[in-house]
Amino acid sequence: MILQLRGISKTYRTKTEQGDVNALTPLDLDIEEGELVSFVGPSGCGKSTLLNIVAGLLPATTGEVIFDGDLMTEPSRRVGFMFQKPVLLPWRTVRKNVLLPSEVFGSESTELGDKVDEVLDVVGLADFANALPQHLSGGMQQRVALARVLVYEPRMLLMDEPFGALDEFTREAMNLELLRLTGPAGITVLFVTHSISEAIFLADRVVVMSSRPGRISGVVDVPFGSDRQISIMHDPAFTDLVFEVRGLLGDSAVEDSETVSPDPGLSGGERQTNG
Ligand SMILES: Nc1ncnc2c1ncn2[C@@H]1O[C@H](COP(=O)(O)OP(=O)(O)OP(=O)(O)O)[C@@H](O)[C@H]1O
Ligand SMILES: [Mg+2]
Repeated sequence: MILQLRGISKTYRTKTEQGDVNALTPLDLDIEEGELVSFVGPSGCGKSTLLNIVAGLLPATTGEVIFDGDLMTEPSRRVGFMFQKPVLLPWRTVRKNVLLPSEVFGSESTELGDKVDEVLDVVGLADFANALPQHLSGGMQQRVALARVLVYEPRMLLMDEPFGALDEFTREAMNLELLRLTGPAGITVLFVTHSISEAIFLADRVVVMSSRPGRISGVVDVPFGSDRQISIMHDPAFTDLVFEVRGLLGDSAVEDSETVSPDPGLSGGERQTNG
């Protein structure tokens, strides 16, 4: 067990007329080393809140995060975080953007030099080490962000809609790449997405959340192996999983136009519900 979430809840105290925001109700979850767990749920159900708490960036109101046996109280170098936007500094080259955290953490960037070249090669950016971010496509910029976390050989990656701003084709390519990079290395991944199909395609388990206040409404096991290809999305077993997740989401609005069923008999009011 690499990660244990014990009774995690979050209430944001605000001074606005909105008052306190109960973002997460006490939530428990255990994650095995090397697992890829995706999280789906309506906007505002607390997915980013949860990821920020796991990252040690935000204190939980109650509960604890145990990572590799230790209480997580501050960001760890062994945990990489990736956001929807790549957050690159425009005046720094690709290579220097990848080295940025090492400067922030104060480690020797010379030691990391070879490692940076290796990782840029792995993410397919070997020829762009000296390019500026503005000369890269959105997908390439997100690869830089990925390289920046992989350089530390993280044991766990926390990804908050990392490919949400990419076109579908690029997103699929990034999904395959993510599986290829994290699977064999045994990196544990928590992956937040608004896309049901992306959640299922990537994951060993899909955690479905519901809002107000955020809680886990169900966890769906994904039986596909680690060598999955995009074509599994056409597998009837995949479609069954989409309906299972949709059922758990209930009437929650989730952007996922690409996974709308081609079968009109199963749409709308006839959605499969679970339990
Ligand atoms: N700093 C904050 N202060 C007050 N309320 C907050 C704060 N951050 C988030 N919230 C509220 O907490 C709830 C959960 O927010 P969060 O960003 O975790 O949701 P989310 O599931 O990531 O949403 P999305 O899918 O839109 O990214 C929302 O109601 C949000 O308005
Ligand atoms: Mg969010």
